[in-house]
Amino acid sequence: MRGMTTQLKRIGILTGGGDCPGLNAVIRAVAKAAMGGGLEVMGIEDGFLGLIENRLRRLTYNDVSGILTVGGTILGSCNKANPAKFATQDKQGRWVTRDVRDQVVEHYYQAQLDALVVIGGDGTMSGAHDLIERGLRIVGVPKTIDNDLWGTEITFGHDTAVATASDALDKVHTTASSHHRVMVVELMGRYAGWLALHAGIASGADIILIPEIPFDIDAVAHRCLERSKVGKRFTIIAAGEGARPVGGEQFVDHIVADSPDPIRLGGVAKWVAEQVETISRLEGRYIVLGHIQRGGTPTAHDRILATKFGYYAFELLMAAQFNRLVVQQNGQLGSVPIADVARKVRTIPPGHPLIAAGRAVNTSFGDE
Ligand code: F6P
Repeated sequence: MRGMTTQLKRIGILTGGGDCPGLNAVIRAVAKAAMGGGLEVMGIEDGFLGLIENRLRRLTYNDVSGILTVGGTILGSCNKANPAKFATQDKQGRWVTRDVRDQVVEHYYQAQLDALVVIGGDGTMSGAHDLIERGLRIVGVPKTIDNDLWGTEITFGHDTAVATASDALDKVHTTASSHHRVMVVELMGRYAGWLALHAGIASGADIILIPEIPFDIDAVAHRCLERSKVGKRFTIIAAGEGARPVGGEQFVDHIVADSPDPIRLGGVAKWVAEQVETISRLEGRYIVLGHIQRGGTPTAHDRILATKFGYYAFELLMAAQFNRLVVQQNGQLGSVPIADVARKVRTIPPGHPLIAAGRAVNTSFGDE
């Protein structure tokens, strides 16, 4: 990497937002590279919450050794604590938000940090952007099972979640076939359908429902009946949690009042299974795979990606390329300004080749 180099002595590292497999692999890569370069590494506990509450600890080589294959994050994470809009309850129990960035800046300088590596998704990068405005030097690393971070074609954690979701869809196949049922599996992914699309294609789901293509419930039921008529007496539907019927809303499971991104989606699989049963008279069942998709050991692909991303983040720090997010575009590592990524979501573009490939193998997207 070209550019000026800088003399850093101590960096901080944190993991923010929902966890995913590969976080520890990134921590390991950044910390080992930094320690090898003579830097001290401070681990910040529970994402930005640790910076707000001044919970930092010095990481030793042993702390970051033996964690490559371990899911979750040794630092802990938090998907609520955005320093610019930190939610606390007042005496009446009402949630109020405060800007606590001054506190964060104070703790950053108190700990004598020269820069911060922030591993997170879109919410975390928005939080990072708010801190960059206050003068913090940050390098971002893109994580999320949803693969919805703008600016990068892949985030680590996604491949493992796809493998877990595909395994679940494969297993559902046999029981659906035995009982001649329509089985709807609800997958995570928020407002983007990457997880449902990739897992659905990988496991040969008969119908894939994604937020980017609103579905027609009559067309979904019709497809199930069609399959029955030609002797395929079961149907597997992979439904992204953000999928919605034509003209309808996304299904909201609950609201997390103290989260900067409070909506938690959920309910589409139940609704689709019930509607299909009513329309087609075929027996329907639904499964919500949930947080299982965020657990487990990272796949080899995610371990490699996390290690590449972590090392590239270290290189950006050494080249004084601050306030940038490590990305992969066209298979090449690079970086983009965190400012460009904040508050954006990368959904599946219309005409994505995998949708065409899916249609070619007779997969329905519920729209025809
Ligand atoms: O962004 C990751 C993710 O797992 C989404 O796919 C899901 O909608 C959300 O987080 C769930 O959040 P929580 O862990 O707060 O329930």
